[in-house]
Amino acid sequence: MKQYLRKSIRVNGYPHHVVASPDTMLVNIIRKQLGLTGTKLGCGSGQCGACEVIMNGKLMRSCIVRWDRVPEDVEILTIEGLGTPVYSGLSGRRIRYYPDSIPAYPDTLSVGSILNVSS
Ligand code: FES
Repeated sequence: MKQYLRKSIRVNGYPHHVVASPDTMLVNIIRKQLGLTGTKLGCGSGQCGACEVIMNGKLMRSCIVRWDRVPEDVEILTIEGLGTPVYSGLSGRRIRYYPDSIPAYPDTLSVGSILNVSS
């Protein structure tokens, strides 16, 4: 019998209750369950950065984060939430752009690069 984990998370400032199997990757929860398709699935192995989100203030590659490793009440920022009033504090930070860091996935370049925020 397959087990599922139910957790409360906040994404872009909004609360969600998510139920998923422990081995579900966070990128699939963000895209398929929450419908936030701005987070892209590129390599699926933590190499390209297309799936990057900010999780509790740290840049994470969501394609290699299993649901059972996501903390309860985590705060996640996706590309859709960037610049919203909830995260307006980020707008004052310097945003770095690394054009050479994701050469294989040009259509997803902006997601990981824009979220690559320096503090
Ligand atoms: S899709 Fe996650 S690093 Fe490439």
